[in-house]
Amino acid sequence: MKHLLSTYDLGREDAVRILDVAEEMATVGTREIKKLPALRGRTVATLFFEDSTRTRISFEAAAKRLSADVINFAAKGSSVSKGESLKDTAQTLEAIGAEAVVIRHGASGAAARLAETDWISSAVVNAGDGTHEHPTQALLDAFTLRQHWARVKGVDPLGTGLDGMSVVIVGDVLHSRVARSNLWLLKTLGADVTFVAPPTLLPIGADAWPCTINYDLDDALAAGPDAVMMLRVQAERMNAAYFPSTAEYSRRWGFDDARLAMLDARGLDDTIILHPGPMNRGLEISAGAADSPRAVVLQQVSNGVAVRMAVLYLLLSGDH
Ligand code: CP
Repeated sequence: MKHLLSTYDLGREDAVRILDVAEEMATVGTREIKKLPALRGRTVATLFFEDSTRTRISFEAAAKRLSADVINFAAKGSSVSKGESLKDTAQTLEAIGAEAVVIRHGASGAAARLAETDWISSAVVNAGDGTHEHPTQALLDAFTLRQHWARVKGVDPLGTGLDGMSVVIVGDVLHSRVARSNLWLLKTLGADVTFVAPPTLLPIGADAWPCTINYDLDDALAAGPDAVMMLRVQAERMNAAYFPSTAEYSRRWGFDDARLAMLDARGLDDTIILHPGPMNRGLEISAGAADSPRAVVLQQVSNGVAVRMAVLYLLLSGDH
């Protein structure tokens, strides 16, 4: 693996290897093992053309826990405002020493462009490109799901996938790189995926994807899924799409307190709720659901550091 650009072309063996290495990395950052020396003397650059809290900070924490040096670049306040190109920006970071470039960009394909041209020779990690893919988010979601699934099954997660697990992904699929990366990875790992969305927030061609499509959230929940992943409504990308009123959206596609009570009433004790963040509380998820014991949102965030450590380690150490 030279780059991590998508989950679409990530095989099961590589995906399980990343999750297994992340299991080892999850023990780092505690009082007992604060850091590993694995990437001492190596340099990781984070190159963010779009805003981020979780992804940027967790990549920085991941690199530091592996003893790498980190260069943080944010387009805001940089020479991008003077018209500097992606190529010149990336080459500038490499000239300063970057050996891995973690890039978030509003254009689908931006990470692949960096990786597939001869602009730079660094390893490239896609930290979200337009509506296309967000592979490390899907990997941290899979890691979180695998820990839960292994607990439910009473097995060791190491070496396993998500065979037989049912995952319902709900909301603004049209604009969601998280939904796309999750679909490909969850299928590779053996899970069954159902998308639930308003018809106007599903992309053309979604009916050919390897998932079930349902427009009715209550119907999908009644089937007793093992996990429900709520997607953020991406108001900033909503230009052309027809969006139901916020009241209609939260009534029909939001995970509200009534749906939380329904899981309890049906005895679905092992169904967990995920959200990639940032959450629109009161729109796609109620505060009651987001803060309930079923929600694993903060576990997802913590797991993101371990998964990103595994990705950086595998790309930069040559141990794969
Ligand atoms: N989930 C996610 O990508 O969050 P950020 O935009 O805060 O990085």
